[in-house]
Amino acid sequence: MTNSINNEFVSHASALDRAQAGVADLARSRNDRWYPRFHIASDGGWINSPNGFCFFRGRWHVFYQLNPFDTQWGTMHCGHVSSEDLVTWRREPIALAPSLEADRDGIYSGSAVVGDDGRLWLFYTGHRWANGVDPSGGNFEVQCAAVSDDGVHFEKIGMVIDNVDGFNHFRDPKVWKQDGLWYMVFGMSTKNRRGQVLLYVSEDMLIWHFHSILYRHPNPGVFMLESLDFFPLSDKEGNEHWVLSFSALGERPNGFANRNPHTASYVIGSWAPGEEFAPRTEFRMWDWGHNFYAPQTVRADDGRTLQYGWMSPFTPARPNQGDGWCGQLSIPREISLDSYGCIRINPARELTRLRTDTIDFGAVHLDANETTTVMADCDAVEIEMEIDINESTAEFGGLKVHSTKDNAHSSVFYDAQTHRILIDRHANARGDRGYRAAPFTSNTLKLRVFVDRASIEVFINDGEQAMSSYSFPSEGPRAIELSAESGTLEIPTLRVHHLSPIGL
Ligand code: FRU
Repeated sequence: MTNSINNEFVSHASALDRAQAGVADLARSRNDRWYPRFHIASDGGWINSPNGFCFFRGRWHVFYQLNPFDTQWGTMHCGHVSSEDLVTWRREPIALAPSLEADRDGIYSGSAVVGDDGRLWLFYTGHRWANGVDPSGGNFEVQCAAVSDDGVHFEKIGMVIDNVDGFNHFRDPKVWKQDGLWYMVFGMSTKNRRGQVLLYVSEDMLIWHFHSILYRHPNPGVFMLESLDFFPLSDKEGNEHWVLSFSALGERPNGFANRNPHTASYVIGSWAPGEEFAPRTEFRMWDWGHNFYAPQTVRADDGRTLQYGWMSPFTPARPNQGDGWCGQLSIPREISLDSYGCIRINPARELTRLRTDTIDFGAVHLDANETTTVMADCDAVEIEMEIDINESTAEFGGLKVHSTKDNAHSSVFYDAQTHRILIDRHANARGDRGYRAAPFTSNTLKLRVFVDRASIEVFINDGEQAMSSYSFPSEGPRAIELSAESGTLEIPTLRVHHLSPIGL
C-alpha cells in the first residue's frame, strides 16, 4: 500500500506546467475592477487558505490553496508568493500539483518548516475522494511531505502518515520543533462526527508516531476542526501560553457570534511536551467580519507572531468569479497577548511602509444626520480615526466606504445602542450583504480601516478585535464619506493614507 500510494499517476513537472498554463489563461482576460492592490491573490483562478507561511533563506514565503483552472474551489494545488520585507511580493511558480496516488484529487492545506537538513519542508494533506470519483463517498486523506533546496522547487517525499482507520476528515498538518523533537497537529472527525485535534511526534520528520488526542471540541455540533495551528505566546511577564487555533465546521450562530458558515477560532491554555493541553479560555473568534477563515501563524526572528488568514467568500454572490479570479488573503497581522491575557490582533507594522500621500483632516464635527465626503474616489487606503463616544450623541455614525453614485456603499459604523462596531453591507449593490458587529470595551474608539478594491478590514482599539469583509463596489468613483445618524459625531482625529500596490 505504502509503495503504490507514493506512485506517480502523472509526472509532477507536467502537472505543474498544466496548472501554470491554467492560471495564465485566466489571468490574460482578468478584469481588475475588484482585483486587490495590497492583498495576496492569484493572477487567475481560485484561492483559499494560506499554507506554509515561513521565512527561509532571507525571504518570507506564503503558499496558498489554488485551483488554477477555475474561479471556484476544485482540484487544489499549492500556489506560492515570496517577499523580502513582507511588503512587496513576487510571484513564484506553483509549488505543488496533484501527481501521486496519495494526493490524486488535491494538495490540501499544510505548513512549512526548515528541516534539520537546512531544506524547506512542506507538510500537506494528500486528498483523494474515497470512492475514487467524486465527493459523494466522502474523503480519504493522508499527511504528506515535500522538500526543497531553494524554497521554490519541491520534490515530493509522499505520504508520511496514513489514515488506517479511514476517517472521513483527517487533514491540515501544522509542524514545529521543540526540545529536539518534531511535533505535528492536525484535525479530524471521529466516526461519531466529533471534531478533534491529533498530536504526532517524530525524530526525523519521516517516521511519525501518534502521541495523543490534543483537544476534543466540547460542542457536539462541531464535527471537524480544520486549518490547525498551535503556537506559544508570551505575556508581559514572560510567561508562555499556548494558542490552539482551528476553523470549526458545524458551529451554530449565537447572537452576534458565529454568523459565518464556519468559524475560525482559538482557545488559550497551557501545554508542554508530554503534558496535556489545558485550555484556560472558552473558544474565541479570530475575527468578527463576514469573511475571515483558516488563519496560520509563523514566529518571526524578532519574536513577533505573524498571521495570514483567507478572506473566504463564504456566501454567494461572488461577482468577481466572472472576472478571472476569486479569493484573497487578509493583510498580515501581528498576534500578541495583552496584560489581561487576551489576544490582540494588529496589522503587521511593515504595512505602514505602504503609506503614501497622507491627508490629515484634523478634528471633524458632524451635525445630526450630516453626511460629508472625505475622498471623492479612491481604491486602496488606510483610514485612521478616533470617535469620542462620550461627546457624540449619534445612534450610528462613522464611515461609508465604496460609496458610489447609485447610493451603494458599505458602512463601518459605531452603534451606540449595542456598543459595537458594524461592517454593514445592506446597501451593497453587488455581492453578499448582511452586517457583522464586533464588541469593544472602551469609551473612546480608535479605528484602523483598510479599504482595498473589494474588501474592508477593521482593527479596533489597538487590536482588541478585528473584522474582515468583502465589499464589491458598483461602477464609477468610490467615495469615502463620514456620516452621523440621529445625533452628532465628534471625531478628534482623522487621517487617510493612500496605500501603494504590493507588486503582485
Ligand atoms: C480550509 C480547507 C482545509 C483544506 C483546504 C482544501 O478552507 O478546507 O481544511 O485542507 O481548505 O482546499
